[in-house]
Amino acid sequence: MKKTIALLSGDGIGPEVLNQAVKALKAVAARFDHQFHFQPALVGAVAIRATGNPLPDDSLDVCRHADAILFGAIGDPAFDQDPTAKVRPEQGLLRLRKEMGLFANIRPVELYESLSERSPLREDRIKGTNLVVYRELTGGIYFGDKGRSSDGKLAYDSCEYSVEEIERIAKMAFEAALRRRKKCTLVDKANVLETSRLWRETVQRLANEYPDIEMEYLFVDNAAMQLIQRPSQFDVILTENMFGDILSDEASVLTGSLGLLPSASVGEKTALFEPVHGSYPEAAGKDLANPIAAILSGALMLDHFEMFEEADRIRTVVRLLMDKGVVTMDLNPNSFVSCSKIGDIIGVFIEADSEDEASFANLFEGGVPIV
Ligand code: IPM
Ligand code: MG
Repeated sequence: MKKTIALLSGDGIGPEVLNQAVKALKAVAARFDHQFHFQPALVGAVAIRATGNPLPDDSLDVCRHADAILFGAIGDPAFDQDPTAKVRPEQGLLRLRKEMGLFANIRPVELYESLSERSPLREDRIKGTNLVVYRELTGGIYFGDKGRSSDGKLAYDSCEYSVEEIERIAKMAFEAALRRRKKCTLVDKANVLETSRLWRETVQRLANEYPDIEMEYLFVDNAAMQLIQRPSQFDVILTENMFGDILSDEASVLTGSLGLLPSASVGEKTALFEPVHGSYPEAAGKDLANPIAAILSGALMLDHFEMFEEADRIRTVVRLLMDKGVVTMDLNPNSFVSCSKIGDIIGVFIEADSEDEASFANLFEGGVPIV
């Protein structure tokens, strides 16, 4: 199959982690006889510096003509420390989500047994955690009317949701629950917010059409607490934009590192795949970042192309490296390999002529990968 993939590396560690995802995808293309054409485009602070615009029209064009978008990271401390900045890197990502109609952000949180001691939670609490967050991505307070009073002493951000916006993501979350453990938790603040009451009303009505799904309704403060106390109770978490932003970061560190988790943003047009982590500017250019989230985002993209065997190949190799303790510094500061080395090893292993995990093991000598 032939696919064109827009590469929006963005800021900080974005380019280096995306380079490793490209290595993995090139290896997949070679092994499974596909043609992937990668088309780089600017976004974020790098785009502002080059063009004054965090999402130049050229970049949007590249995305519109691609089969999928691979996104690195966005954000730059120079802008974070200046609350008066009129143009911000994040605007590039928000506009891209809106322009491409990416209304559902899907963030799976899966535990690697071999890394469970890295979790901030005790092993008995984290055991069995396997959840996915369905976060609404193009509505709510992120995109509502915002502004300041004329004297600048009052600011507002308004939150709006329509029934249609709620229904389309709720359906996706229900379909996902049917493929998983058939449980869905709506997270809202229906005891206070009108938008949350509309969410609850709409989701309750829609849930009648899915009798096989066990529904649960939690207020966001309670959900934040339950995620720490008993994360294994969750299967699909459905929620609005801002709650989803916060809860998915919280959920993502349960596994031991934010550097492991991929995400997919899907909707009306070309889908986008990106690591959940940010631009981690302190590590940029040092070849220390964890590329696994970006590589697994590539696997989610392959799922989206219905290349399931190809996606599984990436996941098998990633799991193997984790199990063997071949990890970046965030996961083991005492014994680690570089970001680019992880990409090299994964590329070689994807192409390697070994069909099962036992023969994969032959690629290791004394615990060190032979590449
Ligand atoms: C995310 C990020 C973005 C968000 C930022 C960079 C605008 O935190 O993808 O979760 O808040 O949505
Ligand atoms: Mg976030």
